[in-house]
Amino acid sequence: MSEVRRVRVPIDGRSYDVLVGYGAAELLGTLLPVTAKRAAIVTQADVPVQISANIPHETFQIGIGEQYKSLETIGELCRSFARMGLTRNDVVIGVGGGMVTDVAGFAAASYHRGVPVVHVATTLLGMVDAAIGGKTGVNLPEGKNLVGAFWQPSGVVCDLDALDTLPDREIRCGYGEMAKYHFLTGDDLLALDLTARVARCVQIKAEIVASDERESGRRAILNYGHTLAHAIETATEHRYAHGEAVAIGLIFAAHLANVLGRIPVERVDQHFAVVGEEYALGVDLPAGVDPNQLLDLMRRDKKALDGLTFVLDGPHGVESVTGVDDGSVLDALSRMAS
Ligand code: GLY
Repeated sequence: MSEVRRVRVPIDGRSYDVLVGYGAAELLGTLLPVTAKRAAIVTQADVPVQISANIPHETFQIGIGEQYKSLETIGELCRSFARMGLTRNDVVIGVGGGMVTDVAGFAAASYHRGVPVVHVATTLLGMVDAAIGGKTGVNLPEGKNLVGAFWQPSGVVCDLDALDTLPDREIRCGYGEMAKYHFLTGDDLLALDLTARVARCVQIKAEIVASDERESGRRAILNYGHTLAHAIETATEHRYAHGEAVAIGLIFAAHLANVLGRIPVERVDQHFAVVGEEYALGVDLPAGVDPNQLLDLMRRDKKALDGLTFVLDGPHGVESVTGVDDGSVLDALSRMAS
């Protein structure tokens, strides 16, 4: 096993470690609560990663596809946990991408009013975002992630060996989330190898989550690039995956910050250099999507509490900006089109 980095998520009374590196899954046992006599492993049929929990366990597969990110799946999992006799001293282990860790985390948060959960993230997006920070939940027919809980894991494994078999598109989606971290601090992430870069992304997220676990303020900066991204996902009926849409959203956010006089054009160019060149991600708006539809969708963003709200770069770094006017948004969108 090569070097495995240990990143602490320092949350009051519930701190935990994230292990990052090739072969890190071999250390899974070190993250399980000492009280756990049994584990319920939650995964999907197409997840190639085998884990060894070293305690008696049963494995439950959830369906593949967003339609299975549902309350029905939570009900089925909790019934399975009850049938195997899982207790509050035991542990749920989520093995998979963001959908699995969101669902396993929410089932763990709900069953017996909360049992420990450990995540084994098998996608790049899961490693740098979804598995870290305790957001769990499922969709309703009325919208994505409308029901959920904050439930911090007891530990997270990011075994980079899992990325060897990850389809290219999934890697690109991970890069979309990873690109965002380049602008949240002044770090030169490009100077780091993959292990160090994933570990640094985790550390940046850990520090932000620790400062605002319930997203009453600062945690919102983790949604950099996400306001347009959510609108693109909806407008294209999810033909654009989340990370692909975030990549475009980052470029849009840079243009909008420039339109509002918050950053110079050179900073917009830096966004292009990271997103479009370094990570080679698509940065153009989807063909045929009406800017006014995107504007409407962004106005209805569930995080927009006070008019059009964006997370934008500026002289004080990336922060939430409320009350942005329609004209500036349409101007920024037109700069994307050109
Ligand atoms: N994915 C954003 C957050 O965890 O807050």
